[in-house]
Amino acid sequence: MSQDSRRLRTAAVIPAAGRGVRLGPGAPKALRALGGTPMLIHAVRAMAASRAVSLVVVVAPPDGAPEVRALLDGHTFPERTELLVVPGGDTRQQSVALGLQALPDDVDVVLVHDAARPLVPVDTVDGVIAAVRAGAPAVVPALPLADTVKEVRPDPEGGQEPVVGTPERARLRAVQTPQGFDRDMLVKAHTTVTFDGEGATDDAGMVERLGAPVVVVPGHEEAFKVTRPLDLVLAEAVLARRRVTDGYA
Ligand code: CTP
Ligand code: MG
Repeated sequence: MSQDSRRLRTAAVIPAAGRGVRLGPGAPKALRALGGTPMLIHAVRAMAASRAVSLVVVVAPPDGAPEVRALLDGHTFPERTELLVVPGGDTRQQSVALGLQALPDDVDVVLVHDAARPLVPVDTVDGVIAAVRAGAPAVVPALPLADTVKEVRPDPEGGQEPVVGTPERARLRAVQTPQGFDRDMLVKAHTTVTFDGEGATDDAGMVERLGAPVVVVPGHEEAFKVTRPLDLVLAEAVLARRRVTDGYA
């Protein structure tokens, strides 16, 4: 058993098949440039920066797998990192499921990381992996909230939305990626848990539905998700600061 487990690998699945509607018109979000380099390349490098990660599965837009493969082939990554590209689906949940199907048998720990979080530091990645390797079946990096959160009764017509509650802020966390999982647990969640509408936006939430424990480790403010145009400004500023402080390009 211990002999076998030494050969088991950690892989990262990167869902990158979204359009990026909230970012506004343009190329699919993952292919947009940050500091002159596509966001997806930053995200792959962020996963590959962890010495534990030996495989990265990129889930491309449904009709964009050849383009993404060519993009990856035009950039450099650590020699230890194997890269696979698979076409994604209509929802993030479907895209992650398609990425999981591409994993070889020798993978026992899986990270799921949004291409839209290109700047997550390697210490956060390693912290998630370490917590899974220490026995947690599901691990999420998370931060306390700055804003107070209200629960409302949403009005699809755009009218007034009455407040129905105010959860105590100190008990809330904003969760990020990479989220880390025991591979079998995540595959079970993706094959048995169903969500209506746009599907699950959070893999750990699917594992929660199985009744399995999910633990939180510290997230990082640089692991923010590029969602709206202002996030691009912040991401460029973070890259500029890194260039000054450690010569990172
Ligand atoms: N994603 C995916 N497949 C989809 C939808 C989303 O792989 N069908 C990925 C995105 O590429 C992104 C991650 O899931 O890396 C998080 O999703 P989000 O930030 O919502 O990105 P988009 O769905 O692209 O953005 P928007 O919701 O504004 O359209
Ligand atoms: Mg989305």
